[in-house]
Amino acid sequence: MKVKIFENGPIALDTEDEVSVNLDGSTEKKAGPLFLCRCGQSSTKPFCDGTHRKVEFRAPGAELDVG
Ligand code: FES
Repeated sequence: MKVKIFENGPIALDTEDEVSVNLDGSTEKKAGPLFLCRCGQSSTKPFCDGTHRKVEFRAPGAELDVG
């Protein structure tokens, strides 16, 4: 799975596997790419809804290959 951390933006999980998301006790399975909020301001957590632009979130980017 590849993980791309966008500069000033979300974390993208690029996977063809289904990923379980479990924040409030519910389970949701999604196949990638998934864009996860990193700024903490999304109204659709854990997913990015673009609010990082509005709040001018700033953080460096990176890319990882986690196998
Ligand atoms: S990173 Fe996009 S809304 Fe938080």
